[in-house]
Amino acid sequence: MTQSLTLRRPDDWHLHLRDGAMLQAVLPETARHFARAIIMPNLVPPVVTGDQAAAYRDRILRALPDGMSFEPLMTLYLTEDTDPQDVATAHASGLIKAVKLYPAGATTNSASGVRDFDKVRAVLEKMAEVGVPLCLHGEVTDAKIDIFDREAVFIDRVLDPIRRETPGLRVVMEHITTSNGVDYVRANDADLGATITTHHLIINRNHILVGGIKPHYYCLPVAKREEHRLALLNAATSGDGRFFLGTDSAPHTDDNKEMACGCAGCFTATNTMSLLAEMFERQDALDKLEGFTSLHGPAFYRLPVNQDTITLTKGEVVEYPAKIDTEDGPVTVFDPGFPLHWRVS
Ligand code: DOR
Ligand code: ZN
Repeated sequence: MTQSLTLRRPDDWHLHLRDGAMLQAVLPETARHFARAIIMPNLVPPVVTGDQAAAYRDRILRALPDGMSFEPLMTLYLTEDTDPQDVATAHASGLIKAVKLYPAGATTNSASGVRDFDKVRAVLEKMAEVGVPLCLHGEVTDAKIDIFDREAVFIDRVLDPIRRETPGLRVVMEHITTSNGVDYVRANDADLGATITTHHLIINRNHILVGGIKPHYYCLPVAKREEHRLALLNAATSGDGRFFLGTDSAPHTDDNKEMACGCAGCFTATNTMSLLAEMFERQDALDKLEGFTSLHGPAFYRLPVNQDTITLTKGEVVEYPAKIDTEDGPVTVFDPGFPLHWRVS
């Protein structure tokens, strides 16, 4: 039985670092294990222009504790007013690695997102031309569509038409939560990838709702039925290069989670590698972990893999803090509800 596992240092292809005091507190939690991360632009106000992305990158690097290294891979938040040339310039200079599309109203700080997809067609065409990947929050916002169906409907109504109309556009379906998402990726070519979060490999919708409402398991897209979790686990552990880790680690203070209208997001930066090792081991797929966390993402984004490594060792139960402290208040670390045995040494 494997007791020790050495992997190329992992990257996180979908991460929320926020800003200010929260950034200061959560950045070390990611930088401890991860070399790079795709940084989500849904700040208030959002990171829309190349200049704003450059300033945000500088704030992230300034918040990095001495002795830690970490490379933020910046993104722009797509709006109906985004200038195609600004995107192309920010990409050509190496500043941004992707553009993020939030349907307006789909999730946290998405009010400036896209309502009319025709209005972003010129930007998408430019992105296809110059090779900027599009990261998608894949949920429709139509009030008539049940929240558990919003990803599947998005694929049919929005994603498939965009891909047909914009040949050559490389797309990442972020944080897929359904077998429909898995099947759509599998049925397409290498221009389509998908990130899978740590928490969606572990929880289904019962975790949120059975025995009392559990705000720390509430995130968007919301966790679905068990059969969907199993489809995600199967995809993540399959070795298929189109699926890679994007934790969507999304810190909110406990005050903002534990209230009548709590924020969406699970904070998994701290314990993700232990969680994943446990899940992959249960699937007898520890040999597929490095692909998922460290190889498939760089291949999709056409970036080199990391040269250094991390080692996971199996032993006594590993304890993680239940919360991390921030100047804004405590943030609860994702609790899988089972003991973890793999530690990053
Ligand atoms: O759960 C989520 N939290 N999903 C998102 O799409 C956004 C994120 C956040 O920013 O808090
Ligand atoms: Zn996210």
